[in-house]
Amino acid sequence: MSKNNNNFYESWFDTPFYHILYKNRDYKEAEMFTSELMTFLNLPIESKILDLACGKGRHSIFLNKMGYNVTGVDNSSKNIVNAKKYENKKLNFKIHDMRDPLVDKFDLIVNLFTSFGYFDDFEDNLKTLKSIKLNLKKNGIAVIDFLNINYVKNNLVHQNTEEINGIKFNLKRYLKDGFLVKEINFKHDLEEYNFQEKVRSLNINEFKTMFKQTQLEILHIFGDYNLNEFDINNSKRLIFIFK
Ligand SMILES: C[S@@+](CC[C@H](N)C(=O)[O-])C[C@H]1O[C@@H](n2cnc3c(N)ncnc32)[C@H](O)[C@@H]1O
Repeated sequence: MSKNNNNFYESWFDTPFYHILYKNRDYKEAEMFTSELMTFLNLPIESKILDLACGKGRHSIFLNKMGYNVTGVDNSSKNIVNAKKYENKKLNFKIHDMRDPLVDKFDLIVNLFTSFGYFDDFEDNLKTLKSIKLNLKKNGIAVIDFLNINYVKNNLVHQNTEEINGIKFNLKRYLKDGFLVKEINFKHDLEEYNFQEKVRSLNINEFKTMFKQTQLEILHIFGDYNLNEFDINNSKRLIFIFK
């Protein structure tokens, strides 16, 4: 049997297989990056933080451990059910679509580990930025951590197999119609699964144009989780700090 689903952001992220394939994107990585980021931002401990597209909440949980008041939102219900196990007075999770603004306002909004640019309709990216803007307090700051498409293009592994937890993931990667596509095929318990990750191949200039269109101001651009300066050819990440 073959299981397909093209509206991947409502299905693939909801499967346990996503978390197996990205096993190394774990709490330790989140802690390391979050520590670097918060040292840089130097936010008062009473600040309110929104983790937009929080997944299982790995960054939210650490930010809360640091003492911050954190809300994590994601449109994957399974992720939120999972994250809710960690809730406390200053840590809340809820199902929410990042295109829509929330009622609350925040001192910091983070959108981490390529959680932007999934939408077929380009306008939805602008809608997301507008919602971020609406949800920021007067001197609020936001962070988008995206992949560096130039680095990805120059280093694209078109096809490979990764065996993780006994599952052989056959992966194909290519650029098509302005999107970076990853096809994921594997067998598990005699069933065959086919998923597709599709993220818009946004480069630094396209982001700059979107920020301009939504009247958001870029404060810093970093190129990795150690917050080294962005280098278009060598940086793996494209991390914007903006307001
Ligand atoms: C690559 S994962 C990253 C999750 C998390 N930030 C992390 O670092 O572990 C992307 C997340 O975006 C979420 N997502 C996709 N489309 C969304 C939308 N329209 N609104 C809210 N979350 C969305 C997915 O459910 C998924 O959890």
